[in-house]
Amino acid sequence: MSEKVVLAYSGGLDTSVAIKWLKEKYKLDVVALNVNVISERNFSAVRKKALSIGAVKAAVVDAREPFVKYFVFPALQAGAIYEGQYPLATALARPLMAKLLVDTAAKEGAKAVAHGCTGKGNDQVRFDVGVATLAPNLKIIAPAREWGMSREETIKYAQRYGIPVPITVKSPYSIDENLWGRSIECGVLEDPWVEPPPDVFAWTKSPADAPNKPAYVEIGFEKGIPVSLNGKKMDGVSLIQLLNQLAGGHGVGRVDHVENRLVGIKSREIYEAPAATVLLQAHQALEALTLSKDQLRFKQKVAVEYADLIYNGLWFSSLREDLAAYVEYSQRFVSGTVRIKLFKGSCSVAGRKSPKSLYSHGLATYDKGDEFDHSAAVGFIRLWGLSAQTQAQVQGKKAKKGGK
Ligand code: ARG
Repeated sequence: MSEKVVLAYSGGLDTSVAIKWLKEKYKLDVVALNVNVISERNFSAVRKKALSIGAVKAAVVDAREPFVKYFVFPALQAGAIYEGQYPLATALARPLMAKLLVDTAAKEGAKAVAHGCTGKGNDQVRFDVGVATLAPNLKIIAPAREWGMSREETIKYAQRYGIPVPITVKSPYSIDENLWGRSIECGVLEDPWVEPPPDVFAWTKSPADAPNKPAYVEIGFEKGIPVSLNGKKMDGVSLIQLLNQLAGGHGVGRVDHVENRLVGIKSREIYEAPAATVLLQAHQALEALTLSKDQLRFKQKVAVEYADLIYNGLWFSSLREDLAAYVEYSQRFVSGTVRIKLFKGSCSVAGRKSPKSLYSHGLATYDKGDEFDHSAAVGFIRLWGLSAQTQAQVQGKKAKKGGK
């Protein structure tokens, strides 16, 4: 009996060819593992396909709930957005897949795992670092990084072995999708000057074709976690699915980003992330109401760091865990409701409320009922400006007059 390898199997061309290739090149029996992080569609076809190509075993794991609970929501609480634009959908799913590969390898007694990533992207880093961190003794094989076949050669290889070539191969784009978003690369998108053609988008209406009437959604949060939509309690997976539809229908969530990959390449990426866009914005609005100025500023720095760690494949690092503990604690009063307006591609905060709101109407109002002590401002300002005033008196005011 041959040794086993557990392959992260998407059902696409590369990982299908990899089943044969791993057998041919490494004499390994392939256990195909498909991780479902998207929908309740019927995955038995994926299983059957893996088996028909020659996998000794094929499993589909419904990982939507752990994906949302342990990866998506912590990232939402952190406010993690890479380079201010990318909500990190693909990047968040990889460490989960690495974990499931490692678990399955242990169960199957496999000494190796494999994935379909090429040598140019971030995903190989996320898989490799994730697996190496969790199970240092597992061998990692990345067929598409090794075999040196072009797209055409891969298709020829598939045809030679009777591996069905999916029609999606005809699509000029490379697509990865999960609940948190859809990532699209390649084809004409490689020219950053070219506007993304309509066929790039699958989850979002063109804002021009979106309804002429705005829609409102109310998101309820408990400790930074979205728990209800329009007043109805919902589990995370259902909430994200529904919000993807609602917001996508109004053209919300399109991102066009020239991104800095970890491996030193700038690449043009298109994302569709309707639910992520709405939830990140709503969450931020609730934090603005419930966190102090200093907490908000510090948390912004944490968000940048956290996003980089996710993007760069360091999910299982100690620093990411440290930051996660901080973020979780920071959310203890981030509960309440945010009303979001969806309209022709835009998503804006229309209202927010919280039982732990730090907003004080009495302090803020200019109308009667004002509780702010105006006379206290005079002494405060005197001390606030004291050092600038002293310096100007001693060292001259001239230099400060418009720099002349
Ligand atoms: N650039 C994004 C990232 O690194 C998306 C990658 C999409 N992957 C894909 N196979 N199309 O997270």
